[in-house]
Amino acid sequence: AIERTFSMIKPDATRRNLTGAIVKMLEDGGLTVIASKRVWMSRREAEGFYAVHKERPFFGELVEFMSSGPTVVQVLQGENAIARNREIMGATNPADAAEGTIRKEFAQSIGENSVHGSDAPDTASEEIAYWFSETEIVG
Ligand code: CMP
Repeated sequence: AIERTFSMIKPDATRRNLTGAIVKMLEDGGLTVIASKRVWMSRREAEGFYAVHKERPFFGELVEFMSSGPTVVQVLQGENAIARNREIMGATNPADAAEGTIRKEFAQSIGENSVHGSDAPDTASEEIAYWFSETEIVG
């Protein structure tokens, strides 16, 4: 089925001018960008977005990193978009990421791993709604 998912290009990637290269990999993988904006999130916004991880030992580091520079938040649409995006991104830890994936190509560490993507339909809806209003999404 045609789905929507949330995608974010992280500060380690925007800093290295990799936005276009990453979007090209997503588009070549069959996904369409139906909403996109560049956002330098506050610590508070990062804490809210990643609230599900707030008990994790890396939470402070994650919030610090995500608010350290610009990100690009996006809505992607396509056939099985949630799973497809996760395939194109590769494993969270670049050491485990398959050849040809975004994280294999560009990620620097498990924290500075270039991209985020929703893991399920309910989180996709929540994450899209966190950053976008319906009028900003042009499907
Ligand atoms: P992401 O898909 O954005 O969701 C949560 C993020 O936490 C994850 O990608 C990683 O970048 C980050 N993360 C997971 N484990 C660790 C860790 N051990 N140390 C630092 N960051 C981590």
